[in-house]
Amino acid sequence: MEKKRVFLTRRLHDFALKELKKKYQIEIHSGKIPIPKNILKNKIKTVDGLICFPYDKIDSKMMDLAPNLKVISTYSVGFDHINIDHAKKRKIRVGYTPEVLTDATADLAFALMIDVIRRVSEGDRIIRDGKWRIIYGAYDYVGLDLQGKTLGILGLGRIGKTLAKRANAFDMKLVYHNRKRVSKTKEKTLGVKYVSFEKLVTQSDIISIHVPHTNETDQMFDMKVFKKMKKTAFLINTSRGKIVNEKDLVTALKKKIIAGAGLDVFESEPINKKHPLVKLQNVVLAPHIGSSTKETRAKMAEITVKNLNLGMNGKKPIYSVGY
Ligand code: DGY
Repeated sequence: MEKKRVFLTRRLHDFALKELKKKYQIEIHSGKIPIPKNILKNKIKTVDGLICFPYDKIDSKMMDLAPNLKVISTYSVGFDHINIDHAKKRKIRVGYTPEVLTDATADLAFALMIDVIRRVSEGDRIIRDGKWRIIYGAYDYVGLDLQGKTLGILGLGRIGKTLAKRANAFDMKLVYHNRKRVSKTKEKTLGVKYVSFEKLVTQSDIISIHVPHTNETDQMFDMKVFKKMKKTAFLINTSRGKIVNEKDLVTALKKKIIAGAGLDVFESEPINKKHPLVKLQNVVLAPHIGSSTKETRAKMAEITVKNLNLGMNGKKPIYSVGY
């Protein structure tokens, strides 16, 4: 019997490919990343399973080119690049990779927070540019303490909760806003206080975003919100770039409406040297590496394959969304 066909929009770990090859006829896109739309449109026509990445837009039109498609397995926790409603209608399973990347992403949010508040990358740039002249001055290269600062966590899901644990160890005050308030016991254990979005914005010294990108969260942080934040406040985003109005953020950072930002995600990725954020000193930038640790990425590959296998057999993936 002919093996079922699986297409990967990019290479995964060797162990994952070995596993897939045993069961399926696989094809891996090896050219330009992200895969150009016309190539994917052509490849998807004959496949039973698809492994994709967060920048591959799998909309209804793309799915409808694939009459045999049973499962889409994305190598990411985010699934805003997939039209879930349409997949549900078409009875296409969708698998994703939460949990395994919780620690890595919370760590990166924390790293960006320390970096921007203590001006670590800024100092690195000063040295690399040959501009380190003054040693140990009272006012030079001075950052801020994390201790005693109020961290506002937007979205108290897995990553938000893990960030709260990290922040407790640094003696920070914690407030959060979530669609649903968590139980009082959980709040006590995590040392967090529930506040409205308005209060989170106005009270926090640092805001860290941990909500998914949806119609409701799209452009949630714009100039109106930045103007309500403290002038001394920082914004950290390791979720999705589109939650923030980037043009407004650049203005807010330039005009010192807010103090700084640590960003791992952008409205459109990758950004290049000419991007206005790159010119600002009060911003720390990372190339979308929230889940990028050796251990986490291997676990993500393992789950991606397991999710695919289940979907290929008509079963629900371990981590499933929609149908
Ligand atoms: C994801 O998995 O969606 C994250 O953005 C990776 O960092």
